[in-house]
Amino acid sequence: MRVLVTGGAKELGRAFAEVLGAQGHELVITGRDEKALDAAETELKAKGVDVRTHVADLADPHATPKLIESLGHLDVLVNNGALGGPVGPTWEVDEDDWWRTFEVNLRGTATAMNAAIRTMTSGRIINVVSNAGVHRWPYVTAYSVSKAAVIKLTENVAVELKRRPIAVLSYDPGMVDVGLMHRGCDESAQDPELRKIAQWARTQRAQGRFTPVEQSAGLLARIVSGEFDHRSGGLVTPSDG
Ligand SMILES: NC(=O)c1ccc[n+]([C@@H]2O[C@H](COP(=O)([O-])OP(=O)(O)OC[C@H]3O[C@@H](n4cnc5c(N)ncnc54)[C@H](OP(=O)(O)O)[C@@H]3O)[C@@H](O)[C@H]2O)c1
Repeated sequence: MRVLVTGGAKELGRAFAEVLGAQGHELVITGRDEKALDAAETELKAKGVDVRTHVADLADPHATPKLIESLGHLDVLVNNGALGGPVGPTWEVDEDDWWRTFEVNLRGTATAMNAAIRTMTSGRIINVVSNAGVHRWPYVTAYSVSKAAVIKLTENVAVELKRRPIAVLSYDPGMVDVGLMHRGCDESAQDPELRKIAQWARTQRAQGRFTPVEQSAGLLARIVSGEFDHRSGGLVTPSDG
């Protein structure tokens, strides 16, 4: 299958790309960081993966849709790229930063999803969300609320798609010791809110509440294969693994 992974060159997105490539899918990977994209392309190709990479900033509402339209055919879109957003009391953080998080996490996800639906005859769209979009996540409200909005968007669009063979699912990959959560555990954080979050995250990790990255990527691969299509509109979490 041809699978597009936004933000697929780094961290969790890269782990997704690795497992999908190993399963023989044809990959299209996007991100903003050209160097990381080039490195991912070289390394995945060395493993025999059919992959191509494109710079596409999710903050530009035309970039990813234009790429998707140019592909002509797409089976699966994995909307993985996202920002962690500003940290601190909501009324104190930079408002532009707060809204930029929505531009990427919500608008970027929605515009890519819409373009994929217009292009696809059948397939699936997987919107990578977070437990932060289900439960409160104080001091990280742009991230939390943007992910909650993606979960609700997914529920609605799945109903609109019910007469077409296209599934749309939310996927919470769990707390994984890469990317956002790995940086979130940083012991050297100076800012008091970041320090509190880091302490909490390290406790979660120490108590075994993190999901191993292989397990998280393995479950994503099962969603990509269509195993969860019957739950279109719903949220898949590590407990489904
Ligand atoms: N790590 C976790 O434990 C965890 C837990 C729950 C949910 N998640 C979700 O999993 C996904 C990946 O998280 P992560 O931890 O790997 O985060 P990360 O380390 O911050 O990586 C974010 C990815 O998104 C891409 N990205 C960010 N802004 C972008 C933009 N404007 N346009 C295009 N690509 C953009 C980045 O690539 P460039 O820098 O090249 O743009 C990078 O590949 C996110 O949706 C996150 O919410 C992660």
